[in-house]
Amino acid sequence: MKFSPAFIDEVKARNPIEEVVSSYVTLKRAGSNLTGLCPFHSEKTPSFSVSAPNGFFYCFGCGTGGDVISFIMKIENLDYPSAIGFLAKRAGLPLPENPDEKEQGVRRARVLAMNRLAAKYFHSKLMEGGAGLEYLTEKRKLPMPLIKHFGLGFAPDSFGELTNLLTRNGYSAEEMKTAFLCGISPKTGRPYDYFRNRVIFPIIDNAGEVIAFGGRVMDDSLPKYLNTSDTPAFRKSRNLFALNFAKKHCAETMILCEGYMDVIALHGAGFENAVATLGTALTSEQARIMKRYTKKVIISYDADEAGQRAADRAFGILGEVGLETRLLRVEGAKDPDEYIKKFGADRFRKLLEGSRTRFDFQLEGVLKRNNVAENEGKLKAAAEITSIIAAYPSEVERDVYIGQASAALSVPKESLKNDVNRAKISREKRETKEAEEKIMRETRGFGDRINPEKVTFHRGARAEEILLGILLLYPEMLSVLEKEGSVLTPDDLVTEFNRRVLKKLFELKEEDAAISLSLFAEDFSPGEMGKIAKYQIDREKLTDNGEDVVLDCVRIIKEEKAKKTTSLEDLLASKRQKKQDKETTSKG
Ligand code: UTP
Ligand code: MN
Repeated sequence: MKFSPAFIDEVKARNPIEEVVSSYVTLKRAGSNLTGLCPFHSEKTPSFSVSAPNGFFYCFGCGTGGDVISFIMKIENLDYPSAIGFLAKRAGLPLPENPDEKEQGVRRARVLAMNRLAAKYFHSKLMEGGAGLEYLTEKRKLPMPLIKHFGLGFAPDSFGELTNLLTRNGYSAEEMKTAFLCGISPKTGRPYDYFRNRVIFPIIDNAGEVIAFGGRVMDDSLPKYLNTSDTPAFRKSRNLFALNFAKKHCAETMILCEGYMDVIALHGAGFENAVATLGTALTSEQARIMKRYTKKVIISYDADEAGQRAADRAFGILGEVGLETRLLRVEGAKDPDEYIKKFGADRFRKLLEGSRTRFDFQLEGVLKRNNVAENEGKLKAAAEITSIIAAYPSEVERDVYIGQASAALSVPKESLKNDVNRAKISREKRETKEAEEKIMRETRGFGDRINPEKVTFHRGARAEEILLGILLLYPEMLSVLEKEGSVLTPDDLVTEFNRRVLKKLFELKEEDAAISLSLFAEDFSPGEMGKIAKYQIDREKLTDNGEDVVLDCVRIIKEEKAKKTTSLEDLLASKRQKKQDKETTSKG
Protein backbone atom coordinates (compact mmCIF):
# COMPACT_ATOMS: atom_id res chain seq x y z
CA MET A 1 0.00 0.00 0.00
CA LYS A 2 1.32 3.37 -0.95
CA PHE A 3 -0.18 6.27 0.96
CA SER A 4 -0.28 9.62 -0.79
CA PRO A 5 2.17 12.24 0.49
CA ALA A 6 -0.85 14.37 1.39
CA PHE A 7 -2.26 11.64 3.60
CA ILE A 8 1.11 11.10 5.27
CA ASP A 9 1.34 14.83 5.92
CA GLU A 10 -2.10 14.76 7.48
CA VAL A 11 -1.18 11.84 9.69
CA LYS A 12 1.97 13.61 10.81
CA ALA A 13 0.19 16.88 11.44
CA ARG A 14 -2.30 15.13 13.69
CA ASN A 15 0.41 13.28 15.59
CA PRO A 16 2.83 15.82 17.04
CA ILE A 17 6.04 13.95 17.71
CA GLU A 18 6.43 15.22 21.27
CA GLU A 19 2.96 13.98 22.11
CA VAL A 20 3.44 10.55 20.57
CA VAL A 21 6.90 10.04 22.06
CA SER A 22 5.66 11.17 25.47
CA SER A 23 3.38 8.20 25.70
CA TYR A 24 6.47 5.98 25.71
CA VAL A 25 9.22 8.15 27.17
CA THR A 26 9.24 10.71 29.96
CA LEU A 27 10.51 13.88 28.32
CA LYS A 28 11.99 16.94 29.94
CA ARG A 29 12.53 20.29 28.29
CA ALA A 30 16.12 21.21 27.45
CA GLY A 31 16.33 24.40 25.43
CA SER A 32 14.30 24.10 22.26
CA ASN A 33 14.46 20.32 22.53
CA LEU A 34 13.00 17.70 24.79
CA THR A 35 15.19 14.98 26.21
CA GLY A 36 14.70 11.69 27.94
CA LEU A 37 16.03 8.18 28.37
CA CYS A 38 16.27 6.42 25.03
CA PRO A 39 13.69 3.64 24.71
CA PHE A 40 15.85 1.83 22.17
CA HIS A 41 18.93 1.15 24.23
CA SER A 42 19.64 0.97 27.89
CA GLU A 43 21.04 4.12 29.44
CA LYS A 44 21.06 6.03 32.70
CA THR A 45 21.69 9.56 31.43
CA PRO A 46 19.36 10.93 28.77
CA SER A 47 20.81 11.12 25.27
CA PHE A 48 17.49 10.84 23.47
CA SER A 49 16.23 14.12 22.11
CA VAL A 50 13.08 15.25 20.38
CA SER A 51 12.84 18.37 18.30
CA ALA A 52 9.19 19.35 18.17
CA PRO A 53 9.58 22.15 15.60
CA ASN A 54 11.44 19.84 13.21
CA GLY A 55 9.27 16.87 13.95
CA PHE A 56 12.03 14.42 14.60
CA PHE A 57 13.91 12.52 17.28
CA TYR A 58 17.49 11.44 17.58
CA CYS A 59 19.45 9.41 20.10
CA PHE A 60 23.06 10.46 20.53
CA GLY A 61 23.73 7.21 22.32
CA CYS A 62 22.59 4.62 19.81
CA GLY A 63 22.10 6.68 16.68
CA THR A 64 18.46 5.83 16.16
CA GLY A 65 16.40 8.68 14.83
CA GLY A 66 13.79 9.85 12.40
CA ASP A 67 10.34 11.30 12.43
CA VAL A 68 7.20 10.23 14.23
CA ILE A 69 6.59 7.41 11.73
CA SER A 70 10.07 5.95 12.18
CA PHE A 71 9.57 6.21 15.93
CA ILE A 72 6.40 4.13 15.81
CA MET A 73 7.95 1.65 13.36
CA LYS A 74 10.75 1.04 15.79
CA ILE A 75 8.95 1.09 19.12
CA GLU A 76 5.88 -0.85 18.01
CA ASN A 77 7.90 -3.04 15.68
CA LEU A 78 5.73 -2.22 12.66
CA ASP A 79 6.51 -1.79 9.01
CA TYR A 80 6.06 1.56 7.30
CA PRO A 81 2.43 1.22 6.17
CA SER A 82 1.36 -0.31 9.48
CA ALA A 83 3.03 2.52 11.40
CA ILE A 84 1.07 5.02 9.35
CA GLY A 85 -2.07 3.01 10.02
CA PHE A 86 -1.28 2.99 13.73
CA LEU A 87 -0.85 6.76 13.83
CA ALA A 88 -3.91 7.37 11.71
CA LYS A 89 -5.94 5.31 14.13
CA ARG A 90 -4.42 7.11 17.09
CA ALA A 91 -5.53 10.43 15.62
CA GLY A 92 -8.92 9.11 14.58
CA LEU A 93 -8.18 9.50 10.87
CA PRO A 94 -9.98 7.04 8.61
CA LEU A 95 -7.61 5.13 6.37
CA PRO A 96 -7.99 5.43 2.64
CA GLU A 97 -9.40 2.26 1.08
CA ASN A 98 -6.46 -0.07 1.04
CA PRO A 99 -6.33 -3.13 -1.20
CA ASP A 100 -2.95 -4.29 0.14
CA GLU A 101 -4.06 -4.20 3.69
CA LYS A 102 -7.15 -6.13 2.83
CA GLU A 103 -4.94 -8.74 1.27
CA GLN A 104 -2.72 -8.75 4.35
CA GLY A 105 -5.82 -9.21 6.49
CA VAL A 106 -6.96 -12.10 4.34
CA ARG A 107 -3.54 -13.72 4.61
CA ARG A 108 -3.61 -13.38 8.37
CA ALA A 109 -7.13 -14.76 8.57
CA ARG A 110 -6.18 -17.75 6.44
CA VAL A 111 -3.14 -18.49 8.58
CA LEU A 112 -5.33 -18.39 11.68
CA ALA A 113 -7.87 -20.69 10.06
CA MET A 114 -5.14 -23.17 9.11
CA ASN A 115 -3.78 -23.02 12.67
CA ARG A 116 -7.24 -23.70 14.04
CA LEU A 117 -7.57 -26.79 11.87
CA ALA A 118 -4.06 -27.90 12.75
CA ALA A 119 -4.62 -27.42 16.49
CA LYS A 120 -7.78 -29.53 16.34
CA TYR A 121 -5.97 -32.15 14.34
CA PHE A 122 -2.99 -32.27 16.74
CA HIS A 123 -5.27 -32.45 19.74
CA SER A 124 -7.40 -35.26 18.37
CA LYS A 125 -4.26 -37.20 17.40
CA LEU A 126 -3.08 -36.87 20.99
CA MET A 127 -6.41 -38.04 22.35
CA GLU A 128 -6.30 -41.17 20.20
CA GLY A 129 -3.61 -42.32 22.60
CA GLY A 130 -0.15 -43.60 21.80
CA ALA A 131 3.34 -42.22 22.18
CA GLY A 132 2.33 -38.57 22.61
CA LEU A 133 -0.27 -39.13 25.29
CA GLU A 134 1.97 -41.59 27.07
CA TYR A 135 4.78 -39.06 27.13
CA LEU A 136 2.64 -36.28 28.55
CA THR A 137 0.74 -38.29 31.11
CA GLU A 138 3.38 -40.82 32.17
CA LYS A 139 6.70 -39.17 31.66
CA ARG A 140 5.61 -35.58 32.38
CA LYS A 141 2.80 -36.47 34.78
CA LEU A 142 0.28 -34.07 33.30
CA PRO A 143 -3.32 -34.72 34.34
CA MET A 144 -5.91 -34.88 31.59
CA PRO A 145 -7.78 -31.68 32.48
CA LEU A 146 -4.52 -29.72 32.22
CA ILE A 147 -3.74 -31.26 28.84
CA LYS A 148 -7.18 -30.22 27.65
CA HIS A 149 -6.93 -26.75 29.21
CA PHE A 150 -3.79 -26.01 27.21
CA GLY A 151 -5.09 -27.78 24.10
CA LEU A 152 -1.90 -29.83 23.86
CA GLY A 153 -1.49 -32.06 20.87
CA PHE A 154 0.57 -34.62 19.07
CA ALA A 155 2.03 -34.56 15.57
CA PRO A 156 2.34 -38.16 14.37
CA ASP A 157 5.39 -39.36 12.55
CA SER A 158 3.88 -38.69 9.15
CA PHE A 159 5.05 -36.51 6.28
CA GLY A 160 1.66 -35.89 4.77
CA GLU A 161 -1.30 -36.22 7.13
CA LEU A 162 -1.64 -32.56 8.05
CA THR A 163 -0.72 -31.19 4.66
CA ASN A 164 -3.28 -33.49 3.06
CA LEU A 165 -5.92 -32.33 5.49
CA LEU A 166 -5.12 -28.68 4.76
CA THR A 167 -5.06 -29.32 1.02
CA ARG A 168 -8.50 -30.89 1.23
CA ASN A 169 -9.65 -27.74 3.00
CA GLY A 170 -8.52 -25.57 0.13
CA TYR A 171 -5.13 -24.29 1.29
CA SER A 172 -2.18 -24.11 -1.07
CA ALA A 173 1.30 -25.37 -0.28
CA GLU A 174 2.51 -21.78 -0.39
CA GLU A 175 0.01 -20.79 2.30
CA MET A 176 0.92 -23.73 4.52
CA LYS A 177 4.53 -22.78 4.23
CA THR A 178 3.77 -19.19 5.19
CA ALA A 179 2.02 -20.57 8.27
CA PHE A 180 5.04 -22.77 9.08
CA LEU A 181 2.88 -25.85 8.93
CA CYS A 182 4.79 -27.41 6.08
CA GLY A 183 8.10 -27.35 4.32
CA ILE A 184 8.49 -27.75 0.58
CA SER A 185 10.67 -30.57 -0.68
CA PRO A 186 13.35 -29.08 -2.92
CA LYS A 187 13.39 -32.28 -4.98
CA THR A 188 9.73 -32.82 -5.69
CA GLY A 189 8.40 -29.34 -4.93
CA ARG A 190 5.72 -30.96 -2.78
CA PRO A 191 4.76 -29.91 0.73
CA TYR A 192 5.53 -32.09 3.74
CA ASP A 193 4.43 -31.75 7.39
CA TYR A 194 6.73 -29.51 9.40
CA PHE A 195 5.95 -30.93 12.86
CA ARG A 196 6.48 -34.67 13.04
CA ASN A 197 6.63 -37.07 15.95
CA ARG A 198 6.45 -34.28 18.52
CA VAL A 199 4.10 -33.22 21.29
CA ILE A 200 2.54 -29.90 20.41
CA PHE A 201 2.06 -26.77 22.49
CA PRO A 202 -0.32 -24.33 20.81
CA ILE A 203 0.35 -20.64 21.43
CA ILE A 204 -2.86 -18.73 21.85
CA ASP A 205 -3.21 -14.96 21.79
CA ASN A 206 -5.47 -12.81 23.90
CA ALA A 207 -8.23 -13.01 21.35
CA GLY A 208 -8.19 -16.79 21.71
CA GLU A 209 -6.65 -17.40 18.29
CA VAL A 210 -4.04 -20.10 17.82
CA ILE A 211 -1.15 -18.06 16.46
CA ALA A 212 1.73 -20.54 16.58
CA PHE A 213 2.97 -23.92 17.79
CA GLY A 214 5.91 -25.32 19.66
CA GLY A 215 6.70 -28.99 19.16
CA ARG A 216 8.85 -31.01 21.54
CA VAL A 217 10.60 -34.29 20.81
CA MET A 218 9.81 -37.12 23.20
CA ASP A 219 13.38 -38.24 23.69
CA ASP A 220 16.77 -36.56 23.75
CA SER A 221 17.06 -35.90 20.06
CA LEU A 222 17.65 -32.44 18.69
CA PRO A 223 16.38 -29.88 18.16
CA LYS A 224 14.39 -30.28 21.36
CA TYR A 225 11.75 -27.82 20.19
CA LEU A 226 10.61 -26.73 16.78
CA ASN A 227 8.71 -23.46 16.85
CA THR A 228 6.66 -21.51 14.37
CA SER A 229 8.75 -18.63 13.07
CA ASP A 230 7.24 -15.25 12.36
CA THR A 231 4.16 -15.40 10.12
CA PRO A 232 1.51 -12.85 9.10
CA ALA A 233 -0.30 -13.89 12.31
CA PHE A 234 2.60 -14.22 14.72
CA ARG A 235 5.65 -12.39 16.00
CA LYS A 236 7.48 -14.31 18.65
CA SER A 237 9.13 -11.24 20.11
CA ARG A 238 5.71 -9.77 20.86
CA ASN A 239 3.90 -12.70 22.41
CA LEU A 240 4.08 -14.66 25.62
CA PHE A 241 3.04 -18.25 26.20
CA ALA A 242 -0.14 -18.55 28.34
CA LEU A 243 -0.76 -14.81 28.56
CA ASN A 244 -4.27 -15.62 27.35
CA PHE A 245 -4.85 -17.35 30.70
CA ALA A 246 -2.48 -15.39 32.91
CA LYS A 247 -3.93 -11.99 32.06
CA LYS A 248 -6.90 -12.66 34.35
CA HIS A 249 -4.71 -13.58 37.31
CA CYS A 250 -1.81 -11.19 37.23
CA ALA A 251 -3.03 -7.77 38.36
CA GLU A 252 -0.50 -7.83 41.19
CA THR A 253 2.27 -10.19 40.09
CA MET A 254 3.24 -12.26 37.12
CA ILE A 255 5.63 -15.19 37.08
CA LEU A 256 8.04 -15.30 34.17
CA CYS A 257 9.44 -18.72 33.21
CA GLU A 258 11.72 -20.04 30.53
CA GLY A 259 9.80 -23.06 29.34
CA TYR A 260 6.35 -24.13 28.19
CA MET A 261 6.50 -27.05 30.61
CA ASP A 262 7.24 -24.77 33.55
CA VAL A 263 4.21 -22.65 32.78
CA ILE A 264 1.95 -25.66 32.40
CA ALA A 265 3.14 -27.15 35.68
CA LEU A 266 2.63 -23.83 37.46
CA HIS A 267 -0.88 -23.35 36.10
CA GLY A 268 -1.64 -26.91 37.11
CA ALA A 269 -0.47 -26.15 40.65
CA GLY A 270 -2.69 -23.09 40.86
CA PHE A 271 -0.23 -20.39 39.81
CA GLU A 272 -2.20 -19.18 36.84
CA ASN A 273 -0.23 -15.96 36.55
CA ALA A 274 2.75 -17.69 34.92
CA VAL A 275 3.92 -16.94 31.38
CA ALA A 276 7.00 -17.78 29.31
CA THR A 277 8.85 -16.30 26.39
CA LEU A 278 8.70 -18.27 23.16
CA GLY A 279 12.09 -19.79 22.63
CA THR A 280 13.87 -16.44 22.71
CA ALA A 281 15.40 -14.27 25.38
CA LEU A 282 12.99 -11.74 26.87
CA THR A 283 12.49 -8.74 24.58
CA SER A 284 11.63 -5.22 25.64
CA GLU A 285 8.41 -5.54 23.65
CA GLN A 286 7.40 -8.44 25.83
CA ALA A 287 8.34 -6.42 28.92
CA ARG A 288 6.12 -3.57 27.75
CA ILE A 289 3.27 -6.00 27.20
CA MET A 290 3.72 -7.39 30.72
CA LYS A 291 3.68 -3.85 32.06
CA ARG A 292 0.19 -3.46 30.63
CA TYR A 293 -1.09 -6.33 32.77
CA THR A 294 0.88 -6.35 35.97
CA LYS A 295 2.90 -4.36 38.49
CA LYS A 296 5.47 -6.89 39.54
CA VAL A 297 7.28 -9.71 37.81
CA ILE A 298 8.89 -12.64 39.54
CA ILE A 299 11.53 -14.18 37.36
CA SER A 300 11.53 -17.93 37.77
CA TYR A 301 14.14 -19.27 35.41
CA ASP A 302 16.08 -22.50 35.33
CA ALA A 303 18.58 -23.12 38.12
CA ASP A 304 21.55 -23.57 35.79
CA GLU A 305 24.05 -20.85 35.07
CA ALA A 306 22.51 -20.02 31.70
CA GLY A 307 19.18 -19.49 33.42
CA GLN A 308 20.69 -17.20 36.04
CA ARG A 309 22.55 -15.19 33.42
CA ALA A 310 19.32 -14.82 31.47
CA ALA A 311 17.63 -13.73 34.70
CA ASP A 312 20.16 -10.97 35.18
CA ARG A 313 19.45 -9.73 31.67
CA ALA A 314 15.72 -9.92 32.28
CA PHE A 315 16.12 -7.79 35.41
CA GLY A 316 17.57 -5.05 33.24
CA ILE A 317 14.85 -5.24 30.59
CA LEU A 318 11.97 -5.37 33.06
CA GLY A 319 13.43 -2.55 35.13
CA GLU A 320 13.70 -0.35 32.07
CA VAL A 321 9.98 -0.46 31.44
CA GLY A 322 9.35 0.37 35.09
CA LEU A 323 8.30 -3.02 36.40
CA GLU A 324 9.13 -4.00 39.94
CA THR A 325 11.11 -7.20 39.61
CA ARG A 326 12.06 -10.10 41.85
CA LEU A 327 13.95 -13.29 41.28
CA LEU A 328 13.36 -16.65 42.82
CA ARG A 329 15.81 -19.48 42.75
CA VAL A 330 14.70 -23.06 42.60
CA GLU A 331 17.01 -25.24 44.62
CA GLY A 332 17.18 -28.99 44.41
CA ALA A 333 15.51 -29.04 41.00
CA LYS A 334 16.55 -27.90 37.57
CA ASP A 335 13.50 -25.79 36.84
CA PRO A 336 10.12 -24.77 38.31
CA ASP A 337 8.42 -27.71 36.60
CA GLU A 338 10.68 -30.24 38.30
CA TYR A 339 10.52 -28.32 41.58
CA ILE A 340 6.75 -28.49 41.75
CA LYS A 341 6.72 -32.14 40.87
CA LYS A 342 9.30 -32.88 43.56
CA PHE A 343 8.26 -30.57 46.38
CA GLY A 344 4.69 -29.51 45.65
CA ALA A 345 2.80 -26.26 45.29
CA ASP A 346 3.13 -25.09 48.90
CA ARG A 347 6.89 -25.20 48.83
CA PHE A 348 6.80 -23.25 45.58
CA ARG A 349 4.55 -20.65 47.16
CA LYS A 350 7.21 -20.22 49.86
CA LEU A 351 9.80 -19.68 47.14
CA LEU A 352 7.58 -16.99 45.65
CA GLU A 353 7.22 -15.29 48.99
CA GLY A 354 10.95 -15.44 49.50
CA SER A 355 11.78 -14.07 46.06
CA ARG A 356 14.39 -11.36 46.25
CA THR A 357 15.57 -8.22 44.51
CA ARG A 358 18.43 -8.01 42.10
CA PHE A 359 20.42 -6.25 44.77
CA ASP A 360 19.94 -9.13 47.21
CA PHE A 361 21.62 -11.42 44.71
CA GLN A 362 24.36 -8.95 43.96
CA LEU A 363 25.11 -8.54 47.66
CA GLU A 364 25.03 -12.27 48.15
CA GLY A 365 27.55 -12.69 45.32
CA VAL A 366 29.89 -10.11 46.87
CA LEU A 367 29.71 -11.81 50.26
CA LYS A 368 30.43 -15.17 48.66
CA ARG A 369 33.41 -13.91 46.71
CA ASN A 370 35.13 -12.20 49.66
CA ASN A 371 36.08 -13.29 53.13
CA VAL A 372 34.60 -10.41 55.09
CA ALA A 373 35.86 -11.80 58.39
CA GLU A 374 39.22 -10.34 57.45
CA ASN A 375 39.95 -6.70 56.87
CA GLU A 376 41.29 -7.16 53.38
CA GLY A 377 38.25 -9.10 52.24
CA LYS A 378 35.93 -6.64 53.90
CA LEU A 379 37.55 -3.70 52.08
CA LYS A 380 37.32 -5.48 48.76
CA ALA A 381 33.70 -6.37 49.40
CA ALA A 382 32.92 -2.78 50.33
CA ALA A 383 34.55 -1.55 47.12
CA GLU A 384 32.59 -4.02 45.01
CA ILE A 385 29.25 -3.28 46.58
CA THR A 386 29.93 0.45 46.36
CA SER A 387 30.24 0.36 42.60
CA ILE A 388 27.21 -1.91 42.30
CA ILE A 389 25.07 0.52 44.30
CA ALA A 390 26.42 3.51 42.40
CA ALA A 391 24.98 2.05 39.20
CA TYR A 392 21.39 2.28 40.47
CA PRO A 393 19.78 5.43 39.08
CA SER A 394 17.25 5.97 41.86
CA GLU A 395 18.42 7.73 45.00
CA VAL A 396 15.84 6.02 47.18
CA GLU A 397 17.03 2.65 45.99
CA ARG A 398 20.65 3.60 46.58
CA ASP A 399 19.83 4.66 50.12
CA VAL A 400 18.00 1.46 50.91
CA TYR A 401 20.85 -0.66 49.53
CA ILE A 402 23.47 1.34 51.39
CA GLY A 403 21.63 0.48 54.60
CA GLN A 404 21.43 -3.16 53.64
CA ALA A 405 25.11 -3.39 52.69
CA SER A 406 26.30 -1.54 55.76
CA ALA A 407 24.50 -4.03 57.96
CA ALA A 408 25.79 -7.01 56.01
CA LEU A 409 29.41 -5.84 56.04
CA SER A 410 29.16 -4.07 59.39
CA VAL A 411 30.68 -0.87 58.12
CA PRO A 412 29.24 2.54 59.03
CA LYS A 413 26.47 3.73 56.77
CA GLU A 414 27.94 7.19 56.42
CA SER A 415 31.27 6.05 55.07
CA LEU A 416 29.61 3.67 52.64
CA LYS A 417 27.42 6.52 51.49
CA ASN A 418 30.42 8.75 50.85
CA ASP A 419 32.07 6.03 48.85
CA VAL A 420 28.94 5.44 46.81
CA ASN A 421 28.70 9.14 46.00
CA ARG A 422 32.32 9.23 44.96
CA ALA A 423 31.88 6.12 42.82
CA LYS A 424 28.82 7.65 41.28
CA ILE A 425 30.69 10.80 40.27
CA SER A 426 33.56 8.90 38.73
CA ARG A 427 31.09 6.63 37.01
CA GLU A 428 29.34 9.60 35.48
CA LYS A 429 32.66 11.07 34.40
CA ARG A 430 33.59 7.80 32.80
CA GLU A 431 30.26 7.62 31.01
CA THR A 432 30.66 11.15 29.68
CA LYS A 433 34.16 10.35 28.53
CA GLU A 434 33.01 7.18 26.86
CA ALA A 435 30.22 9.05 25.14
CA GLU A 436 32.67 11.66 23.91
CA GLU A 437 35.07 9.04 22.65
CA LYS A 438 32.23 7.30 20.92
CA ILE A 439 31.29 10.49 19.13
CA MET A 440 34.94 10.99 18.12
CA ARG A 441 35.17 7.48 16.74
CA GLU A 442 31.94 7.94 14.92
CA THR A 443 33.00 11.18 13.28
CA ARG A 444 35.98 9.30 12.01
CA GLY A 445 33.66 6.52 10.83
CA PHE A 446 34.83 3.66 13.04
CA GLY A 447 32.17 1.13 13.76
CA ASP A 448 29.77 2.90 11.43
CA ARG A 449 27.39 0.10 10.59
CA ILE A 450 25.09 2.18 8.47
CA ASN A 451 27.84 3.51 6.25
CA PRO A 452 30.70 1.05 6.64
CA GLU A 453 32.65 2.67 3.81
CA LYS A 454 33.08 5.83 5.83
CA VAL A 455 36.12 4.65 7.72
CA THR A 456 37.95 3.95 4.44
CA PHE A 457 36.77 6.97 2.48
CA HIS A 458 36.58 9.36 5.32
CA ARG A 459 37.08 12.68 3.56
CA GLY A 460 34.63 11.90 0.80
CA ALA A 461 32.03 10.55 3.21
CA ARG A 462 32.27 13.67 5.42
CA ALA A 463 31.72 15.92 2.41
CA GLU A 464 28.73 13.81 1.40
CA GLU A 465 27.23 14.07 4.87
CA ILE A 466 27.55 17.83 4.89
CA LEU A 467 26.10 18.07 1.41
CA LEU A 468 23.15 15.80 2.23
CA GLY A 469 22.50 17.66 5.46
CA ILE A 470 22.24 20.92 3.58
CA LEU A 471 20.06 19.40 0.87
CA LEU A 472 17.66 18.01 3.46
CA LEU A 473 17.41 21.41 5.08
CA TYR A 474 17.25 23.36 1.84
CA PRO A 475 16.01 21.07 -0.92
CA GLU A 476 16.11 23.95 -3.41
CA MET A 477 19.89 23.54 -3.30
CA LEU A 478 19.44 20.37 -5.35
CA SER A 479 19.37 22.60 -8.40
CA VAL A 480 23.01 23.55 -7.72
CA LEU A 481 23.85 19.96 -8.52
CA GLU A 482 22.31 20.32 -11.95
CA LYS A 483 24.17 23.48 -12.90
CA GLU A 484 26.93 23.39 -15.45
CA GLY A 485 30.28 23.14 -13.73
CA SER A 486 28.92 21.62 -10.56
CA VAL A 487 26.90 18.69 -11.83
CA LEU A 488 26.74 15.86 -9.34
CA THR A 489 24.71 12.68 -9.77
CA PRO A 490 24.25 9.90 -7.19
CA ASP A 491 26.74 7.82 -9.16
CA ASP A 492 29.40 10.39 -8.40
CA LEU A 493 29.22 9.76 -4.68
CA VAL A 494 31.98 7.86 -2.96
CA THR A 495 29.95 5.77 -0.53
CA GLU A 496 27.02 3.51 -1.31
CA PHE A 497 24.79 4.55 1.57
CA ASN A 498 25.00 8.25 0.78
CA ARG A 499 24.43 7.43 -2.89
CA ARG A 500 21.07 5.92 -1.90
CA VAL A 501 20.17 9.01 0.06
CA LEU A 502 20.99 11.39 -2.77
CA LYS A 503 19.15 9.18 -5.22
CA LYS A 504 16.05 9.33 -3.04
CA LEU A 505 16.34 13.11 -2.85
CA PHE A 506 16.43 13.38 -6.62
CA GLU A 507 13.49 11.00 -6.92
CA LEU A 508 11.42 13.09 -4.54
CA LYS A 509 12.33 16.20 -6.46
CA GLU A 510 11.27 14.45 -9.65
CA GLU A 511 7.92 13.57 -8.06
CA ASP A 512 7.56 17.16 -6.93
CA ALA A 513 7.09 16.00 -3.34
CA ALA A 514 7.77 18.44 -0.54
CA ILE A 515 10.96 16.93 0.81
CA SER A 516 10.70 15.75 4.38
CA LEU A 517 12.35 13.08 6.40
CA SER A 518 9.21 10.99 6.64
CA LEU A 519 9.26 10.26 2.94
CA PHE A 520 12.53 8.40 3.52
CA ALA A 521 11.09 6.01 6.08
CA GLU A 522 9.63 3.88 3.33
CA ASP A 523 13.02 2.96 1.92
CA PHE A 524 15.28 3.31 4.93
CA SER A 525 15.36 1.42 8.23
CA PRO A 526 15.05 3.30 11.55
CA GLY A 527 18.81 2.95 12.04
CA GLU A 528 19.39 4.49 8.64
CA MET A 529 16.78 7.14 9.34
CA GLY A 530 18.74 8.05 12.44
CA LYS A 531 21.81 8.64 10.35
CA ILE A 532 19.94 10.76 7.85
CA ALA A 533 18.31 12.77 10.63
CA LYS A 534 21.76 13.32 12.11
CA TYR A 535 23.04 14.80 8.83
CA GLN A 536 20.26 17.34 9.07
CA ILE A 537 20.70 17.98 12.81
CA ASP A 538 24.42 18.60 12.35
CA ARG A 539 23.82 21.30 9.75
CA GLU A 540 20.93 22.89 11.51
CA LYS A 541 23.13 24.16 14.29
CA LEU A 542 25.33 25.96 11.75
CA THR A 543 24.86 29.08 9.70
CA ASP A 544 27.18 28.31 6.78
CA ASN A 545 24.86 26.23 4.69
CA GLY A 546 25.15 28.25 1.51
CA GLU A 547 25.96 27.47 -2.08
CA ASP A 548 29.70 27.91 -1.52
CA VAL A 549 29.69 25.05 0.99
CA VAL A 550 27.72 22.92 -1.45
CA LEU A 551 30.25 23.66 -4.18
CA ASP A 552 33.11 22.80 -1.84
CA CYS A 553 31.48 19.49 -1.05
CA VAL A 554 30.94 18.72 -4.72
CA ARG A 555 34.63 19.41 -5.40
CA ILE A 556 35.83 17.20 -2.52
CA ILE A 557 33.47 14.38 -3.44
CA LYS A 558 34.74 14.41 -7.01
CA GLU A 559 38.37 14.45 -5.90
CA GLU A 560 37.82 11.55 -3.55
CA LYS A 561 35.79 9.60 -6.06
CA ALA A 562 38.62 9.96 -8.57
CA LYS A 563 41.09 8.73 -5.95
CA LYS A 564 38.85 5.81 -5.09
CA THR A 565 38.47 4.87 -8.72
CA THR A 566 42.19 5.20 -9.38
CA SER A 567 43.13 3.16 -6.40
CA LEU A 568 40.65 0.54 -7.47
CA GLU A 569 42.06 0.59 -10.99
CA ASP A 570 45.55 0.34 -9.57
CA LEU A 571 44.51 -2.61 -7.54
CA LEU A 572 42.90 -4.34 -10.49
CA ALA A 573 45.89 -3.56 -12.70
CA SER A 574 48.31 -4.96 -10.17
CA LYS A 575 46.16 -8.07 -9.85
CA ARG A 576 46.16 -8.48 -13.62
CA GLN A 577 49.91 -8.00 -13.67
CA LYS A 578 50.42 -10.64 -10.99
CA LYS A 579 48.24 -13.07 -12.87
CA GLN A 580 50.18 -12.43 -16.07
CA ASP A 581 53.44 -12.88 -14.25
CA LYS A 582 52.22 -16.15 -12.89
CA GLU A 583 51.11 -17.33 -16.29
CA THR A 584 54.42 -16.39 -17.90
CA THR A 585 56.41 -18.11 -15.19
CA SER A 586 54.33 -21.24 -15.36
CA LYS A 587 54.60 -21.28 -19.13
CA GLY A 588 58.30 -20.58 -19.00
P1 UTP B 1 14.15 -25.86 28.13
O1 UTP B 1 15.24 -26.63 27.47
O2 UTP B 1 14.33 -25.47 29.56
O3 UTP B 1 12.82 -26.68 27.91
O4 UTP B 1 13.92 -24.60 27.24
P2 UTP B 1 11.53 -26.92 28.77
O5 UTP B 1 10.38 -26.22 28.13
O6 UTP B 1 11.76 -26.65 30.20
O7 UTP B 1 11.30 -28.42 28.51
P3 UTP B 1 11.61 -29.66 29.41
O8 UTP B 1 11.22 -29.35 30.80
O9 UTP B 1 13.04 -30.00 29.26
O10 UTP B 1 10.73 -30.66 28.76
C1 UTP B 1 13.09 -23.54 27.65
C2 UTP B 1 12.33 -23.00 26.47
O11 UTP B 1 13.22 -22.60 25.44
C3 UTP B 1 12.66 -22.85 24.19
C4 UTP B 1 11.27 -23.41 24.43
O12 UTP B 1 10.35 -22.34 24.43
C5 UTP B 1 11.40 -23.99 25.81
O13 UTP B 1 10.17 -24.10 26.45
N1 UTP B 1 13.47 -23.79 23.40
C6 UTP B 1 14.30 -24.68 23.99
C7 UTP B 1 13.37 -23.77 22.03
O14 UTP B 1 12.63 -22.96 21.47
N2 UTP B 1 14.11 -24.63 21.28
C8 UTP B 1 14.92 -25.56 21.85
O15 UTP B 1 15.56 -26.37 21.11
C9 UTP B 1 15.03 -25.57 23.25
MN1 MN C 1 13.32 -26.55 31.42
